Amino acid sequence: MIGPHRVEGYAIISVDGMIADANGVMPQSIRNDADQRFLQSELDRAAVIVHGRRSNEGGPRAAGRKRLILTHAVPTIAPDPSHPNALLWNPAGTTPDKAIELLGALTGTIAVIGGTDVFGLFLPLYDAFHLTRAARAKIPGGRPVFPQVGPQTTPEDMLARYGLHPTARRDIDVNAGITLTTWQR
Ligand SMILES: NC(=O)c1ccc[n+]([C@@H]2O[C@H](COP(=O)([O-])OP(=O)(O)OC[C@H]3O[C@@H](n4cnc5c(N)ncnc54)[C@H](OP(=O)(O)O)[C@@H]3O)[C@@H](O)[C@H]2O)c1
Repeated sequence: MIGPHRVEGYAIISVDGMIADANGVMPQSIRNDADQRFLQSELDRAAVIVHGRRSNEGGPRAAGRKRLILTHAVPTIAPDPSHPNALLWNPAGTTPDKAIELLGALTGTIAVIGGTDVFGLFLPLYDAFHLTRAARAKIPGGRPVFPQVGPQTTPEDMLARYGLHPTARRDIDVNAGITLTTWQR
């Protein structure tokens, strides 16, 4: 939680726990329409979207959503000249509570959508993490969903280490081998 807000994370990963390739590009092998439909409908209900400077959810409703964009380019928090509903936020200079207050979000869920360092930063705060896995995709040398993920540590290890527990796995696209497991605190 952050104040009265639930914090929920959303990621689609390869079988080896990656969200993008070594160049920071999200490959087609982990893009999926069923996952996008799930993500977009969840974000429609969220009060605030949080992501790093190189990520966003895209889609026709993105501009209408309130968001915090992490960057070291500002010392604390500042308006984003190119996105009226967004604030640029450096968590080293301003707490999440203050950033959310400045955004004018009094209630509702905070949706964290990546990338790697941002997913990692919020590990102690998630009330739920929605982990979609593309069983047929492998991205050797890619960017992991959490900074600690690697040959010895899976995304599931990290979620469990931070006190989250898996609920039932759903096959959201059987033909493509896409599953969704929501981890709850
Ligand atoms: N599969 C998925 O679910 C998923 C989810 C998210 C993203 N992606 C993909 O992953 C790729 C981008 O990943 P990424 O991890 O490189 O991107 P990212 O987190 O979106 O952006 C990285 C930037 O965010 C800022 N940042 C991150 N942590 C910060 C902190 N603690 N304090 C201040 N600023 C911070 C920094 O910006 P400055 O350089 O401005 O300081 C950093 O360079 C894209 O291809 C994207 O599509 C995939």
